[in-house]
Order: sequence, then structure tokens, then C-alpha cells
Amino acid sequence: MPLATDDFLDIDDVTPAELDALLDRAAAMKAGETDPRLGDATLGMIFEKPSTRTRVSFETGMTRLGGHAMFLGPDDIQLGHGEPLKDTARVLGRYVDGVMARLFDHEDVETLAEYADCPVINGLTDEAHPCQTLADLLTIRETVGEDATVAWVGDGNNVGQSFVVGAAMAGVDVSVATPADYGMDPDVFDRAAEFGADVEPTTDPEAAIDGADVVYTDVWISMGQEDLREEKLAAFDGFQLNADLLAGTDAKVMHCLPAHRGEEVTDDVLESDRALVWDQAENRMHAQNALLVELLGGE
Ligand code: CP
Ligand code: NVA
Repeated sequence: MPLATDDFLDIDDVTPAELDALLDRAAAMKAGETDPRLGDATLGMIFEKPSTRTRVSFETGMTRLGGHAMFLGPDDIQLGHGEPLKDTARVLGRYVDGVMARLFDHEDVETLAEYADCPVINGLTDEAHPCQTLADLLTIRETVGEDATVAWVGDGNNVGQSFVVGAAMAGVDVSVATPADYGMDPDVFDRAAEFGADVEPTTDPEAAIDGADVVYTDVWISMGQEDLREEKLAAFDGFQLNADLLAGTDAKVMHCLPAHRGEEVTDDVLESDRALVWDQAENRMHAQNALLVELLGGE
């Protein structure tokens, strides 16, 4: 069933029922179900930041769906040389069937969606990473089940913010621990509350992981924050997912990757049976394929 939304800029652009159906579809496509609707479709992919998973999963995904994906890096198109975003958006919309964009400023992906006459998918902004959330929720469904409790421990960043809202939509309980100066936007908890979640963030990682089935973290220094490295490393003391923090729990560990081993997570934790990270990475493609056919595929 096509989605009601024209664009996918954050996870709550879809309804909980649509999210549930997308995850069902993703699981079916992972099991081999195909869809012919994007056989002659082209996805334009704008990247202002580097990527491994997002680029490769969308490009491979479009190939699997019979369509084509076009990589548009900062040096490849006029956008990187001064052409206004709204002009780029209007022109791309005349050619391609959808645009996936990885940008710094979240307002830019909104501008893209406003001016491009085709669906726009957020492939990560400084505020949100909804495609990651789709993959995360699929992974939780497959492994621990949606009655799980997931603790977000670390930076209150793009990945965490979309995850907290998406988890609320899927009925997954969430606890959140971040340093005081690096918390999530309070709006995130208001949006989660709209789906019945009562998330009280804390600054205590041990409190957050108490009773959690999964502990989820991400890098402390996101792309574009390199200047904050020293102050963030100091602020995140005690937030590392390591054997000490996880002692006494058999919680699984999630990470959107790329991981900075020795910072937010230790090598031994990432290499242990706790880690769900490779499933998360694989599930990016299956979840996005479901999204692509429902958002771009029409009736
Ligand atoms: N998780 C994720 O989005 O990874 P990339 O930065 O490699 O795309
Ligand atoms: N928070 C990280 C996620 C990378 C996928 C970043 O924005 O760099």
C-alpha cells in the first residue's frame, strides 16, 4: 500500500500502522519477495558527507529492484559549486523518480522536499536518521522482539533522536542516558509521547541499562563535529560500552556504524556475541527497499 506521505524526512512522517507494514514488507523482501514497480526508476543520491552503508545499501537496493541509483557527491554537481539547493531540487525533480540526500542541515532536506517534484528520503542530517531507524526496528523484531527495552547510551544525536521516536511508534520501550550537555532535543520526547512513550532521560548510563535487553550507542563525534573532539571526549567519560558497564547483564549491543573502537564502544564488545550491528547494517538495504517501493512505486 503506498504511503500517505510524499517524503520521508523523519520516522514519524509515516504512521505507526505504515511503519508496521513497512517492517513486514522489509522482512518479506529480505526473504526474497520482489516488487516490479521500480524497474525503470532512477534514484538521485546527494551526499554532503561520507557514507559506506547508506550509499551502498541504496545503490545495491535500487539495482535489486531493477532500477538505477546515481551518486551525486559534493564535487560532482553544481550544488557543491554554488548552485542554490532549491534550483538543484527543481531540476533533479524533472529527471529522477526520487532523491535520497545526506546533508548537514535538516532544514536543507526540507527545502529539497519542498522544491523537488518527487519523493525525498533523508539519508541522515544533523538531526535525524530515519532510514537507520527502519533497519534498527527490523533488527529488534528479528532478534529480541518488539517487547524489548532498549537503552540509548551516548550522544543525543541524529541516530538516537529518530530511534527514540521510532521505538515509541513500534511499542519498543526506551531509556536514554546522555551527558547533560549533549542531550536530545526535548521535542524528541514530546514526539515520542504522542505515541504513548514516557521517556525520562538521565545522565546515568548504569541507570539507563538496568533491565535493558539491548544497549544502543553511536559515535560521540559525529560528522561535522570534529572541532568539538576534545570537549566531547571529556564529557562522555563513563559512557563507553565496555565489559565493565555491561557486566551483570546479557544485553545485546546495537551501533549504527561506523564505530570508533576505544571511544564509544570497545573492540571486545563489538566483536562479541552481543553485537547486532552486522544485522543492523544488512537490514538497511531490506528496510529501504520496502520504503523505496512504497514511496516511489505508486499504486
Ligand atoms: N549507519 C550509517 O548511516 O552508515 P554510513 O555513514 O556508512 O552510511
Ligand atoms: N551520528 C553519526 C552517524 C553516522 C551514520 C554522524 O552523524 O556522523
